[in-house]
Amino acid sequence: MTTHDEVDLALLVRQLRWESDGVLSVTLEDAAGGDLPVWQPGAHVDLHLPGGLVRQYSLSGDPGDRRAWRVAVLREPASRGGSVAVHEQLRAGTVLRARGPRNNFELLESTRYLFVAGGIGITPILPMVRAAERAGADWTLLYGGRTRGSMAFLGELTAYGDKVVTHPQDEAGLLPLGAHLGTPREGTLVYGCGPEPLLQALEAAMPGWPRGSLQLERFRAVEPTAEQLAGDHDFEVEAAASGVTVQVPVGTSIVRALEEAGVFPETSCEEGICGTCETKVVEGEPDHRDSLLSDEEREAGGTMMICVSRCRGRRLVLDL
Ligand code: FES
Repeated sequence: MTTHDEVDLALLVRQLRWESDGVLSVTLEDAAGGDLPVWQPGAHVDLHLPGGLVRQYSLSGDPGDRRAWRVAVLREPASRGGSVAVHEQLRAGTVLRARGPRNNFELLESTRYLFVAGGIGITPILPMVRAAERAGADWTLLYGGRTRGSMAFLGELTAYGDKVVTHPQDEAGLLPLGAHLGTPREGTLVYGCGPEPLLQALEAAMPGWPRGSLQLERFRAVEPTAEQLAGDHDFEVEAAASGVTVQVPVGTSIVRALEEAGVFPETSCEEGICGTCETKVVEGEPDHRDSLLSDEEREAGGTMMICVSRCRGRRLVLDL
């Protein structure tokens, strides 16, 4: 489901800029002065931040600009430290290691789109609206935030006129999802990104829509359900290409069990949101616990995120 054209990069911070109260954008360029890799709307990059943290940020600039990438980061003091590292430690001239671009949130071709963004969830949506506009598609963006002052990139969005519906919560309340999604529309793709309550409201607002109409990007991992946790059990994983078989006990991830046996799959977020560890399943039924795969992809069972997902049965064979 992801596109794997990522590479290791050294990126130079060219500019830091306030885009709203609490949101800082970071413009990055190739540290050696070359072109940056091609990317498509919905892609993100892993940034290795000061302090040893690795965090994923959506590319929010123009895919046509090979000289610069832009990410935007909300300051969240209560988070696990990535946003504070960006806000307090990045300076123009800082060089960061990075890996990307990776796209788990691809913009599929359609003649009609509804984009829904909450807060910092606007970042992957911005290049999408630009692409939809260029393609001549019929599109609307619903953009909500706590207050107008907290909503990044409002200036940039004015160019699209009334295709953009802004809803600062303190002025206009919650996004009017029912008004836009109440009637299922064949041929309309809905792309949503933002806080978990908004994404859940989107899922709940679309009964009767054709399967695959809704595409979401989650910044936070979905917690396993109580039912999943209660059913946790030990299982066996064979890494077919490495010729290694391991036991995965309750409380240990597949990645950790493999690492202990000397097999080191590529990982990044280790919480099921970035797609780096996506692995082909040769045999067995995964118990998917990631926040990325669609219902259709889960049912097909062809790949799984081995940092968080487990096994429904007693054995999995993976293409590793
Ligand atoms: Fe990010 Fe597994 S490492 S999804």
